[in-house]
Amino acid sequence: MTGEGIGFGKAILFNEHFVVYGVPAIVSAIGKYTVAKVTQFEGSEFKFEDNRGATPSYKKDKLDQQKDSFDRIFKKMGLDDSKNGIKIELGGNLYVASGIGASAASCVAVARALSEHFNLNLSDDELNDIAYEGEKGYHGTPSGIDNTASTFGGLIWFEKGEPNIMEKISLPTPVRIVMGNTGKVADTTAAVAGVRERKEKDPEKYKKIFNRAENIAYLAKRALQEENYKEVGKLMNENHKLLQQIGVSSRELDFLVSIAREQGALGAKLTGGGLGGNMFALTPGKDLQENVANAIEKEGFQVLKTTIGVARESVE
Ligand code: MEV
Repeated sequence: MTGEGIGFGKAILFNEHFVVYGVPAIVSAIGKYTVAKVTQFEGSEFKFEDNRGATPSYKKDKLDQQKDSFDRIFKKMGLDDSKNGIKIELGGNLYVASGIGASAASCVAVARALSEHFNLNLSDDELNDIAYEGEKGYHGTPSGIDNTASTFGGLIWFEKGEPNIMEKISLPTPVRIVMGNTGKVADTTAAVAGVRERKEKDPEKYKKIFNRAENIAYLAKRALQEENYKEVGKLMNENHKLLQQIGVSSRELDFLVSIAREQGALGAKLTGGGLGGNMFALTPGKDLQENVANAIEKEGFQVLKTTIGVARESVE
């Protein structure tokens, strides 16, 4: 018996960090995903093999968190007693790095593969809840945005709450983007904790920034629905500025953002937890995507040319 499942990588278009406090955010699955494969073998231990391509040191840095995450997933699925004799292999075309939804993609893929292996027939909503529990292994109090994008695919409006609000935003065709990897593995828990500390110290300043972030989300949603990518890009640039103000950008991220803008990207910003990891640039059109990607690569950074607005049906 085997089970297999996928989980998408993601790019947050608007309002990472702000989303933790209930500010609306916009996220998209990207055209790359992690695949998990579950097999049974004669033996009494639990095995896993991580064959994903990865930023140097990513796997080592995240190993303890990954183990914790697996434990949480098995527990949440009621499979604690079935763990021994199970092997999980991770692969797929998502090159793992910070800011790209790697942890969520693996949680979703593993939950799907276990569900198939044990014939549990779980719904996407149930798998999303399990992946959310797995995400806690990586960063204590996740908002749930990453696992939601990773489970459902597509472009999503997300608000954390009781319950979370999730709305699909449909794009007629996927839009090209470039993701630029600083090569730095970042710790999301530390990034989120840093924002909380600074926010508590200067509530007035942060209130203004948070209010503007909320406005940006509504403006961006409308611009996306109207396919007004010039406006989307402008709002992304402003969103990056707000993220700089709350202290989660870095020298490398700002550098990659400036290269992308110089090459004509409609907008560029950090994506995900920040302090390293990835930025992304909005580059509708093949030539624009190539130009931005080449310029970033020329500076010695790794890039990913992919799309946002990818529907789940298109890969299964
Ligand atoms: C990480 O991809 C996004 C953050 O907003 C954290 C979270 O939402 O859990 C930084």
